[in-house]
Amino acid sequence: MEQQKRYGHFDDQHREYVITDPQTPWPWINYLGNEDFFSLISNTAGGYSFYKDAKFRRITRYRYNNVPMDNGGRYFYIKDGDTVWNPGWKPCKTPLDFYECRHGMSYTRITGRKNGVEASVLFFVPLKKWCEVQKLTLKNESSETKTLKLFSFEEWCLWNAATDMENFQRNFSTGEVEIEGSTIYHKTEYRERRNHYAFYHVNAPIQGFDTDRETFVGLYNSFADPQAVIEGKPRNSHAHGWSPIASHYIEVTLAPGESKDFVFLLGYIENEQDEKFEAPQVINKKKAHALIAELDTTEKVDKAFAELCQLWDALLNIYKVKTGNDKLDRMVNIWNQYQCMVTFNFSRSASFFESGVGRGMGFRDSNQDLVGFVHQIPPRARQRIIDIASTQFPDGGCYHQYQPLTKRGNNDIGGGFNDDPCWLIFGTVAYIKETGDFSILDEMVPFDNQPGSEVTLFEHLKVSMDHVIKNLGPHLLPLIGRADWNDCLNLNCFSWDPNESFQTTENVSEGTKAESLMIAGLFVVTGKDYVALCKKIGKNDEAERMQKAVDAMIAAVKKDGWDGEWYLRAYDFYGNKIGSNECEEAKIFIESQGWCTMAEIGAEDGMVAKSLDSCKKYLECEHGMVLNNPAFTKYIYEYGEISSYPEGYKENAGIFCHNNPWVIIGECLAGRGNDAWSHYAKILPSYVEEKYQTLHKVEPYVNCQMVAGKDAFKPGEGKNSWLTGTAAWMWYTVSEFILGIKPDYDGIRIDPCLPETATDYTVNRKFREAEYEITIHPNGAQKGVKQIVLDGKPVDGTVIPYSVGKHTVEVTM
Ligand code: BGC
Repeated sequence: MEQQKRYGHFDDQHREYVITDPQTPWPWINYLGNEDFFSLISNTAGGYSFYKDAKFRRITRYRYNNVPMDNGGRYFYIKDGDTVWNPGWKPCKTPLDFYECRHGMSYTRITGRKNGVEASVLFFVPLKKWCEVQKLTLKNESSETKTLKLFSFEEWCLWNAATDMENFQRNFSTGEVEIEGSTIYHKTEYRERRNHYAFYHVNAPIQGFDTDRETFVGLYNSFADPQAVIEGKPRNSHAHGWSPIASHYIEVTLAPGESKDFVFLLGYIENEQDEKFEAPQVINKKKAHALIAELDTTEKVDKAFAELCQLWDALLNIYKVKTGNDKLDRMVNIWNQYQCMVTFNFSRSASFFESGVGRGMGFRDSNQDLVGFVHQIPPRARQRIIDIASTQFPDGGCYHQYQPLTKRGNNDIGGGFNDDPCWLIFGTVAYIKETGDFSILDEMVPFDNQPGSEVTLFEHLKVSMDHVIKNLGPHLLPLIGRADWNDCLNLNCFSWDPNESFQTTENVSEGTKAESLMIAGLFVVTGKDYVALCKKIGKNDEAERMQKAVDAMIAAVKKDGWDGEWYLRAYDFYGNKIGSNECEEAKIFIESQGWCTMAEIGAEDGMVAKSLDSCKKYLECEHGMVLNNPAFTKYIYEYGEISSYPEGYKENAGIFCHNNPWVIIGECLAGRGNDAWSHYAKILPSYVEEKYQTLHKVEPYVNCQMVAGKDAFKPGEGKNSWLTGTAAWMWYTVSEFILGIKPDYDGIRIDPCLPETATDYTVNRKFREAEYEITIHPNGAQKGVKQIVLDGKPVDGTVIPYSVGKHTVEVTM
């Protein structure tokens, strides 16, 4: 049998994914940066950097949709005699004697070897600093002295990534740079309203430079064969307009066995208005000099790198599982948590599928992302909740997105997505359960960022609930508005105009009967949480009021939301059923099965079990569960974007990984551990790593948003990797429902749901000021805790009460 091609493997000890062939089926990327300065980097060093906002503060240029793919990045050209090569293979694509890319926790190390020379580059963003470090180590492994010509390369973006791609009549005249010693400064638009510039520095004398792209590359050459490099001669060009770049030229001589480090720094600086210039037309470089001085030696850089690694040690030390199953352990302990942090930082803005110009931070997205990292950095979760709530309207509705730079609601998209308000409860409850910090409920938070409109955060939660209750349709189910979680089910949008956006066209909503069963389930789940929270803080009247609303919703779902074998998905504008056996296509949808089973609606009447069985029967396939079945084969004017996708892709019967965990949690609550596990393993990257190498295409260490479904032209092909709510939901599912370690107001609830083949495992969980070493003995049970022993004493029930200090817990199922 033919051996399947492999492009890499996991290295758990170093928490790295090691790529051994640069020609991966798609660029396999990593993220650098934790707070303000961020970079995307592919396995061939492609990608770009930005400060806080990928649209408004893009530092380096990148071309999406280019040929060849992944063009533009931070490139080192090494000219050794007549051979020119790059440590990451691209862009010259000179065959290497050795290639390796190690993507780790917020860093990437790329190593190439050619003709006896090794070049290894460590890329990372130091903590609390606004720069990307590129530490290049050149080593002569041959027995002769080597004289090498080294060229660095970065291309500047003219700051606004959107206008950079389109406004050439202006762009080609604005570019400005300054050169000082070994530092190249990019100062386009600094003379007017910008208070920021960027720089590219190396901690060694240079023998030349270039800052004008066409002079360096040549108008009819490409990044693969820049004229200056091919000829081994920098032009010392000074860019005026056109396309500014930064390239250092260094001549390096290495004796046999000798190695040398070069620290390259890509930095970003902001100056106060009255301190912008040190002389007319000359930028004030004081802060740049200071930043460079902090990182101008190998020792300083190594220290900064060690600090970054320590941060990740600490972050990944909060929840650690030992099951003996490497594939599970590496996802839980490393990659799933890492992806959650990246998703929290970037929301859905910048990946190799998200161009960084289109979307801000989503209201619902950010609340969901929060459950993925709240255990790691609670203060940032707290801030995120306040930021999000500040974009809410007084009636409980919300802006669908906000911009990270301004934290203001995004007017281009507006509001009207009727699931949005509920997510605020979801996020806030998760935060309080993790931290015990009820004081967040008393924070004064404005509506729509209007000063003077502040009310407590609790009041925001209340209007969120009320927003659902005040917007019920004819079956007393929630009106869907522009869309619910599924952005593409646009039931109040009727469009025959290809120039209209489905999601922002709500052209008929007066008199609508469009209702959502997904919001109904979400309302019941978050409503129960809200009721419990109210009771906890002594708001008993409010708890009672909302319990009634929850009960009413449950009754409405049972009466008008059940199709016989599964929950309906929705009612359309006219009040016709969606997701029913009566429909011609898309008879069943996943979202309402997920949320109504999580809400356990009608469990006592067998509805939950039937719904879960139907998911297995109609939605499940080799690669996961599809969103709807059968797929839509034609555009349906009444449904909107969902039916615009070809069969099997995206919201039209793709495996939208985000919502698979909803059903898995439904399975867990129902105690069906075997089924929960089999659904989970199907979309767990480490379990399908083999498949990723060719069929799946995208990064094998993280989940992607969508895998082509069974009706697709190419089932199993993955797309939209990295930035997806799947990360947080996979984490929430495995950490709290499968492994069963669930933070609660007064302690940790332990309630695993496992396949019957599960063996003993241990979870080490840091929780507030305590640390629990929890060992679970499943004894072949899928669900049901028989006994918990805390520090040698039996505990009543399933919650281990919180107390400061170290504890051991034995759990028998
Ligand atoms: C959006 C989510 C949405 C999902 C399903 C994602 O691209 O970011 O907000 O829920 O698509 O439509």
